[in-house]
This record gives sequence, C-alpha cells and structure tokens, in this order.
Amino acid sequence: MRYAEITGWGKALPPTVLTNADLEQLVDTSDDWITARTGIKERRIANGEATEMAEVASRHALAAAGLQSEQLDLILLATCSPESLVPASASYLQARLEAVNAGAMDLNANCSGFVYSYVTATALIAAGVADRILVVGVEKLSFITNYLDRNTAILFGDGAGAVIIEATEEPVGLMASELGVDGTTTELLCTPVDGTRGVPGPRDPATSSITLQGQEVFRRAVRMMSESGAAVVRDAGWDLDDVDLLVPHQANQRIIDAAARRLGLDSSKVFTNIHAYGNTSSATVPIALTEALEQGRVAPGDKLVFAAFGGGLTWAAAAVQWGARVEPISTSDAALPKTDKSVMEVLKPNLDFFQKGGR
Ligand SMILES: CC(C)(COP(=O)(O)OP(=O)(O)OC[C@H]1O[C@@H](n2cnc3c(N)ncnc32)[C@H](O)[C@@H]1OP(=O)(O)O)[C@@H](O)C(=O)NCCC(=O)NCCS
Repeated sequence: MRYAEITGWGKALPPTVLTNADLEQLVDTSDDWITARTGIKERRIANGEATEMAEVASRHALAAAGLQSEQLDLILLATCSPESLVPASASYLQARLEAVNAGAMDLNANCSGFVYSYVTATALIAAGVADRILVVGVEKLSFITNYLDRNTAILFGDGAGAVIIEATEEPVGLMASELGVDGTTTELLCTPVDGTRGVPGPRDPATSSITLQGQEVFRRAVRMMSESGAAVVRDAGWDLDDVDLLVPHQANQRIIDAAARRLGLDSSKVFTNIHAYGNTSSATVPIALTEALEQGRVAPGDKLVFAAFGGGLTWAAAAVQWGARVEPISTSDAALPKTDKSVMEVLKPNLDFFQKGGR
C-alpha cells in the first residue's frame, strides 16, 4: 500500500508587524480587549504578492525535504485570497519555483484549505497519480480586511506555510480524515460580491472586505473542530490519550482552548502561535506545524491531529502518524525582502480604499 509522508516544511512571514497598539490608532479598541478576547498581540502585513510568500515557504520546505523543484509532480496551493481570478495563484508559484515537471492548481476551502489540500494530496499519492506534491497555504488577507472595521481588523494577517508530501511504503501520514461544509451558512463569514457576483467595474469598498458574525462563527468553530478532531482520532483507531500534539487552525485563542477542552486534551498537547500572527486562514496550520517542528515539539512516531474551520462554512480534520524525520535535510536562505516603510505606510492603499466607503 502507498502512504504519503510529510518530508519537508517551511514558512514565510512578512517583516512588517501590525501590533495591537497600531490598531488602537485606527479603530476604537484596546490591547487589553484584543488580548483577552482573541489572544492576538501582532499580525504581519505583506508588502509584496502572495506567491512571493508562498515561494519562500516552498523553498524552505523543498530544502527540508532535500528536493529540487523540478522533482515535484504537483503544486497544490490553498488560498482564499488569490492573486487573480485567472490564472490560479499556483501558476505564478510554479513559475517562481521553476517547477518545470509539476502540474499546479489552487484549492479554496477558506481557513480549512490547507487541511483539505493535505488530504487531497495524500489521496492523489495513494492513488498513484503523483509521487511528490508541494502543498502550500498562503494568504494576503490584508487585501480584503478593512483596517477601519474593528470587528475584523484585529483578527487577520498575512503569511504562508508549505509542506512536501512524498510517497512511501511505511505506514505513516494521514490515517483518517473528515472534510465538512455547511453551505447554507455562507453569509456568516464572507466577502460578499468580490467575484463574478459583483457588477463589472472597479472594486466597491462597501462589499470588498471580510464580513463576520463573530459569535455564531465562534460557536460553530468550537463544535466542529472538537467533533471532527474526535472523529478522526476514533477512525484512526487511536485513543485521545494517544494524541501527542493538536495543531489547530489559529483563529482565536479562546476557540482553540474551548475545542481542546472538549477533546479532553491538556494545553501542553496543543500548539498555538496566534499571539504572533493572528488568523492567516489557510496558512495557519502549515505555519504552526513548521514552528512546532522548529521548537522540537514533534518527535519521530508522534501522533498529530490537524483541525480547522472557516468560511463556507467548512471544517476539516486529519489524524497524522508522523514519520521518522523531524530535522530538515538541508536549509534554504530564501527570505522576503526587508522594507523601510512603516506599517502605516504599507497599509496606506488599504486605508485610502476603505476610507472611501467601507463598512
Ligand atoms: C470576533 C470575536 C473576537 C469577537 O469576540 P466576542 O467575545 O464574541 O465579542 P462580541 O462580538 O460579543 O462583542 C462584545 C463587545 O465588544 C465590542 N467589540 C467588538 N469588537 C471590538 C474591538 N475590536 N475592540 C473593542 N471592543 C469590541 C462589541 O461592540 C461588543 O460591545 P457591546 O457589548 O457594547 O455590544 C469572536 O467572536 C471571534 O473570534 N469569532 C470567531 C471569528 C473568526 O475567527 N472567524 C474566522 C474563521 S475561523
């Protein structure tokens, strides 16, 4: 039987930091409120294109796996903030990486997109369609976040994470998965008409930002992340006590804490980094996984659970039997360019746009 092992991992975070103190200058909020209600202290704001972040994360993942880009069979890019409607962002990334032997496609399941993509990539490898797949979660949410709307401005950030998945005969990798959606609830978290539902013409600030019914999304996120997490543990034939590390979607520290409590997992078995990056949607899980490995939180043979929730409303969970590799084979010096601009200078086009009529 063919299995699919995560053999490389990497991340890219823009150098520009938006702190809670910065947000106090923009909207009626406070560091105390944001910290207590979300756990977020800072987020990153991109100064370039999303696939620039994806490229850097991918180069680290390729180096960790000891692979060259031409050895890739497929690039699967999870995003809900694509660079264009046509082509898919994966095409831009394929060109940046010169992955000349790879196919490339985007997958949009919003904040659950990376876990959906990981499950899809594993299935393609198990079916013999591909041997080596690059799976990337990347978001430039600062494009669709209105930094003058305190309901959403505090939550979202930019970033990318990537993994390499390779075919193996060893019984490792994805042991069980659950992919779900309730498409009747799309209005709870959406950018209303920033697509072909809109009328031809320039973007309208009134309909081009993320809108969110926070409390309802919060409740559903806790329920679906804990229920789907428990389901994949059961389907993998594990007990919850067997789980070494939960790598959850980072939307709100309180969502993570409540979901872990319902699962009966001690906080020492839960990886969080939301304080540093906020919610980077499909990028949260691969960034968190990369940092968990960097911090020695994953040991050979560990049992991991990924659990995510997001717009759509989608959810996804995966029980992952880790293999032997917890150290990168090699490293890359790929990095995002530094900028002399202040965070307010980087945000100026966003603020100018939403000042003209955003909610
Ligand atoms: C958005 C979220 C942080 C709001 O937290 P909450 O505890 O639900 O807060 P509420 O919406 O009940 O608002 C409580 C009060 O704080 C106020 N408030 C809202 N945002 C605020 C802010 N940024 N700063 C200060 N006060 C704020 C509200 O106006 C409300 O005031 P009121 O009591 O006078 O009416 C939370 O609901 C959440 O994280 N939801 C999940 C969203 C998410 O991450 N989705 C992504 C997909 S996974």
